[in-house]
Amino acid sequence: MTAFLSVEGAAKRFAPVLTFGDKVATWLGAQKPPRTVHAVDGVDLFVERGAVLGLVGESGSGKSTLGRMVAGIHVPTEGSIRLEGMPVMSPGNRPRKITTRVQMVFQDPFASLDPRMRIADTLAEGPIAHGLTTRREAMAYARKWLETVGLDPDYATRFPHQFSGGQRQRVAIARALAMQPDLLVCDEPVASLDVSIQAQIINLLMRLRRELNLTLLFISHDLSVVRHLCDRVAIMYLGRIVEEGPTPEVYETPRHPYTRALLESVPRLEIDDDVDVVFRPIEGELPSPQNPPAGCHFNARCPLVFDRCRIERPLLNEVGNGRLAACHLASPDQAGPNLAIKPISG
Ligand SMILES: Nc1ncnc2c1ncn2[C@@H]1O[C@H](COP(=O)(O)OP(=O)(O)O)[C@@H](O)[C@H]1O
Ligand code: SF4
Ligand SMILES: [Mg+2]
Repeated sequence: MTAFLSVEGAAKRFAPVLTFGDKVATWLGAQKPPRTVHAVDGVDLFVERGAVLGLVGESGSGKSTLGRMVAGIHVPTEGSIRLEGMPVMSPGNRPRKITTRVQMVFQDPFASLDPRMRIADTLAEGPIAHGLTTRREAMAYARKWLETVGLDPDYATRFPHQFSGGQRQRVAIARALAMQPDLLVCDEPVASLDVSIQAQIINLLMRLRRELNLTLLFISHDLSVVRHLCDRVAIMYLGRIVEEGPTPEVYETPRHPYTRALLESVPRLEIDDDVDVVFRPIEGELPSPQNPPAGCHFNARCPLVFDRCRIERPLLNEVGNGRLAACHLASPDQAGPNLAIKPISG
């Protein structure tokens, strides 16, 4: 069966942008030539129709780049991205997005809306261009989508600066929905909002998902938001997916040492222990994507590292119950929920 969204072998490398000064300095030997950034490094991901997949990982792990490739904003350097078997972008020397079925919601709604355009024009511009509405119907069309996201339709004549942060994010969601997508890529859509507003936007996304039968790729560094919203979760580390599976199982019994470290790095209240805040930050720093380590990308920070990890890339393999993990120690035949992964010392 073809997955609704299939990402196969997707990689994105950003070539360094050299100024004239950089070129001269490199030529004179005053600096090393800047290296290519390996932002996404061979990702396979399959999402069923109507599912909500969370994509989490530290800042710089490549989540936004992967999301932008899925949304047809970045061209993959390698690999393919398909919706029901159809490529999101045209092949060839000048690839471009060829479907409106995927739309994206960004972290900063203010930056993503044109400050000089009335909301009605912002909402109707794309749909008119793609024949989803006409100029005559544009106002009614915009009003309908404002209502869908819980805003007063009369706001259609306003400008972005006349809204609060939460309202602006609703407008940004309405703009994406007005293109009548099947898949919505949400890149940290609540990260810039107050906590009270975050819950409203998350509830809105959950309602829209139900009512419009949307499939969501929900990118976040906030593990509690992902736990609340997502059916499945994919954990990303330095351009690669290291674990993927049903959200409750991944959170309860992580199969990859990085997932475990990530979950332990979230501060939480230990009620038994005289209400103490405990958390264990992940040791070390994310290596540079300009010079990713050989073998397993997590090897410099992993408490279970052994020789093979420094040479051989662990593949993202089935480890049972619809779960996948990319670690030489994670295999389906290991008994017990928590396999060989010992508690991280410290
Ligand atoms: N347009 C770009 N040009 C060069 N490097 C980029 C570009 N976009 C992202 N990167 C780099 O790619 C890596 C992954 O970035 P990003 O996808 O934004 O990660 P995340 O969303 O997980 O924080 C980072 O090292 C970032 O600096
Ligand atoms: S492959 Fe090795 S270094 Fe990577 S997570 Fe597994 S044990 Fe750790
Ligand atoms: Mg990002």
